[in-house]
Amino acid sequence: MANMSIQNLVYLNGSFIPIEDARISVLDRGFIFGDGVYEVVPVYSRRLFRLTEHLRRLQNSLEGIRLKNPHLDVEWRELLEKIVASNESDDQSIYLQITRGVAPRDHSFPEDVIPTVFIMSSPLLAPSKELVATGVSAITANDNRWLRCDIKATSLLPNVLLRQKALDENAVEALLLREGFLTEGSTSNIFVVKSEMLLAPPKSYLMLPGITYDVVLELAAAHDIPHEIRNVSEYEIRTAQELLLTSSTKGIMSITHLDGKSVGNGKPGKIFLQLYQLYQNYKSTVM
Ligand code: PDD
Repeated sequence: MANMSIQNLVYLNGSFIPIEDARISVLDRGFIFGDGVYEVVPVYSRRLFRLTEHLRRLQNSLEGIRLKNPHLDVEWRELLEKIVASNESDDQSIYLQITRGVAPRDHSFPEDVIPTVFIMSSPLLAPSKELVATGVSAITANDNRWLRCDIKATSLLPNVLLRQKALDENAVEALLLREGFLTEGSTSNIFVVKSEMLLAPPKSYLMLPGITYDVVLELAAAHDIPHEIRNVSEYEIRTAQELLLTSSTKGIMSITHLDGKSVGNGKPGKIFLQLYQLYQNYKSTVM
């Protein structure tokens, strides 16, 4: 329910301010080099979903780029809860970003620089009922990203180009293939159903360890949905019964067309429908 007294604030380096007033230096290394990391945390009914796990992944990303975490987890929680409270929607997508800070342009790390910390919120819009019912289209593309895709880095140019390629071909996602095997999507993790078995590529440097990915595997285990974590080949994707994508902003969605061809019978499949319902129930019951 929209609340007119809520001002929709962002957080920047210690201040809660309207986004129009948020300013950073053009020398910020996030701007100059994409030298930063980020997280996207979904908020359902004003509750931060799986915050502990998002903060753990943030810590891993920071270690991956050798940047000290500027906050303790309790401090992050407090900042994020304040942002949730100062934004109107009950369901929000919280974006937080940390960069190595402002310094004269030089690739090497600057000394004694304070990292830039930015947090904003957008309304979290669940995919429409129609999209859930029809599923979405995807394309395949060559995974031409770097070899540390486990770091949630703000330098996302390959992902930007890959997702735009999908949109240019009237699809919503690009399924990425590296040496004949599925890694993930340009903005999501991908699951494959073959012979009634839910398959997920194993976590590695080649993909982002998705928080929604973990939830889906937990739900599959808790509800006796046969599943296996293993590499999935291009052939298996092209002959899959079902393809699913997961992310914090989209939840779980069915991919019903790949490179213009139907996946299975071209409709969301049995395992998607089961997991979709389980995910809806799960997110309404937990913090
Ligand atoms: N992206 N893989 C990539 C490359 C992603 O960008 C994302 C999410 C995921 C899914 O991770 P999670 O389930 O933790 O959201 C996998 C976010 C939503 C984004 O960049 O906006």
